[in-house]
Amino acid sequence: MRTVITLLFVFACFLSTAPVFGAEPDAMKQVDVLMNKMTLTEKIGQLNQYSSTFDITGPPPADEAGQARLEHIRSGQVGSMLNVVGVAATRRAQELAVKNSRLGIPMLFGFDVIHGYQTMFPIPLAEAASWDMAAVEQSARIAAVEAGAAGLHWTFAPMVDISRDARWGRVMEGAGEDPYLNAIVAAARVRGFQGDDLSKPDTIAACAKHFAAYGFAEAGRDYNTAEISDDTLFNVVLPPFKAAVDAGVATVMNGFNEVNGIPVTADERLQRQLLKGEWGFEGMVVSDWGSIGELMPHGVAADLKQAAHLAITAGSDMDMESSAYLKHLPELVKAGLVDEKIIDDAVRRVLLLKAKLGLFEDPYRYCDAQREKEVIYSESHQAAARDVARKSIVLLKNKDNLLPLKKDMGVLAVIGPLADDKDAPLGSWRGKGVTDSAVSLLAGIKAAVGKNVTVRYAQGATLGVGTRSFVEELSLNHDDRSGIKAAVEAARGADTVIMALGEEAFQSGEGRSQVEIGLKGVQMDLLKAVHAVNPNIVVVLSNGRPLVLTEINDMVPALVEAWHLGSQSGHAVADVLFGDHNPSGKLPMSFPRHVGQLPLYYNHKKTGRPGPDPGGLVFWSHYTDMPNSPLFPFGFGLSYTTFDYGDIALSNKEIAFDEKLTITTTLTNTGKHSGAEVVQLYVRDLVGSRTRPVKELKGFQKITLAAGASQKVSFTIDSNDLAFYTRDGQWRAEPGEFVVFIGTNSRDVQEARFTLKQGRQLN
Ligand code: BGC
Repeated sequence: MRTVITLLFVFACFLSTAPVFGAEPDAMKQVDVLMNKMTLTEKIGQLNQYSSTFDITGPPPADEAGQARLEHIRSGQVGSMLNVVGVAATRRAQELAVKNSRLGIPMLFGFDVIHGYQTMFPIPLAEAASWDMAAVEQSARIAAVEAGAAGLHWTFAPMVDISRDARWGRVMEGAGEDPYLNAIVAAARVRGFQGDDLSKPDTIAACAKHFAAYGFAEAGRDYNTAEISDDTLFNVVLPPFKAAVDAGVATVMNGFNEVNGIPVTADERLQRQLLKGEWGFEGMVVSDWGSIGELMPHGVAADLKQAAHLAITAGSDMDMESSAYLKHLPELVKAGLVDEKIIDDAVRRVLLLKAKLGLFEDPYRYCDAQREKEVIYSESHQAAARDVARKSIVLLKNKDNLLPLKKDMGVLAVIGPLADDKDAPLGSWRGKGVTDSAVSLLAGIKAAVGKNVTVRYAQGATLGVGTRSFVEELSLNHDDRSGIKAAVEAARGADTVIMALGEEAFQSGEGRSQVEIGLKGVQMDLLKAVHAVNPNIVVVLSNGRPLVLTEINDMVPALVEAWHLGSQSGHAVADVLFGDHNPSGKLPMSFPRHVGQLPLYYNHKKTGRPGPDPGGLVFWSHYTDMPNSPLFPFGFGLSYTTFDYGDIALSNKEIAFDEKLTITTTLTNTGKHSGAEVVQLYVRDLVGSRTRPVKELKGFQKITLAAGASQKVSFTIDSNDLAFYTRDGQWRAEPGEFVVFIGTNSRDVQEARFTLKQGRQLN
């Protein structure tokens, strides 16, 4: 927060021609001066956000609703717009507001820049698999550079929702199941988007969303009720939001879901008491799309007026697309039902953000057509996208070192519905990514092998799913087997077969929950038919969520998790397949054996009946038809080389609350290639006032080692790292015995023990 306050002081120059701002250096004061001039209607206008519903650069809208919106922009009734993009459109829209409204207050332009603006980077779940925070930060940085060059001020990212259920389509948008990894990634993304100076036109304001627990939708069904305990809320869901706030995130978005019977948009405890109160968040809270209006179907508001009342009171500052504030706040204030101080607080937050972005100094500072032309989709951005993409790939299986492939093998068959697909790699939430603009796997492979290898291609099957709309899905033919024969012929006698299987771009994302998370359509039939003539198969998966891979894993010798990797996907995958890049990605979510195991996560509780019953009976926490464990655990990922972990050494057997503990191991690259390993540190609190997870990630380091090289790897922790939301509602560590684990994933670890001595948390 300190950074934010500093920025406010620094960027206090305002529009010289505008009558409302003087030249005082203090942004807060400037905003106060402006607010003194504002009528209640003008203030409430700042809290209203519209999506673009007509072409702002085109002729005036013909319909009445469009005309009304246009009029609202002109009369200062719109504080922000989303989905107005590009220099021409944002300039035109800004002119409408600045030139026509009484006070000339510029609008904020927001857009969902989730994993790139036009240069697409890997979907966020994939990028988290890199465990490489420099890469994560760089991709957000470039996204901000491109978005800023397109006239935008604000992205609705990062999504920091923890997700434990792969049925939920939005798992693609976050960093997976672990609070620590999510927190580190959240901070890196905020740094990347916002840089160190929000007024620079190549930085944009970030937005941590969806506050809170949206990812806990029951049964993984999007928008469903989140049923969540305070234990999980405080220990698992909230830490990434706190990390984003500590990193100076400018805005927070609430969500569609309820927690504890209260829709979060109307939740005062979360927004006003915790976020703005205890955490001292000084930025602005925006509602999710129409989530204020949804307080009616939720059944906590009888009408839009009551919805507006509940939301503003709870701390939702800006109304995205419900028009509830514009329509009803004036009468609520006049009737004395909403204190004008609450409105003032919300307006101040909106205006301070505008000041920090430098919009009062120059409302058009992001509108530079030359910059737009030069930086968007530039060559250097493509190179960065390829690099981040290959770092995000996870090698799941590599029997007998089938990979990497040689670039001079005889015949390579490339088969599958996703092999020549230039669209799926762009993923869901693709900003202004251009349809069919990605490098396909086939193109990437051909570019890598040149003329040295004969590449035979067959599509084999369609994906058997269309997920843009329910109607489209129903009308699709899922059973078309006509391509299988040609695929079998392509595979017959080939040295190696690469099969590109998985999910299309819009099979995951918002509103795309599924009850089955295996391969759709006839993809399994295709794989089996090809396998019957040539079992030397590398399956390259493209997907936006963990899939059930049990059958495939039993069948093929090599499995590569290539997610939806963005614009340079095909080149990045080819880099890995042919050994130009040694994979080092690790799963940010557990991959289940069966959909019936969901929700599935490594940091689960032990329960009162954790182990097999010593008497061989069934009365312990398990399934009778399948192990509890995932197929691939959190943190799992192979390399073309092998790593050996030495013993764990602890600096002390006991530490006090103010002492540090250093945990050390020696990592050795025992294989033949240079490679990177993500060394993971987990901790378990053996006895607590609340039940504690069996393991919790507390640190990781990505170490690159040449073949044969060794390195000592040390982690230092103290009582702050052991703190949690205790039974009495405090955030603190409790004395007692702990187990510390180091390993290559959350399952394969070695352990040691230490004690935290009696004492009290220092801060
Ligand atoms: C999503 C948000 C998104 C907003 C604006 C909503 O449907 O839940 O994450 O930022 O739309 O596009």
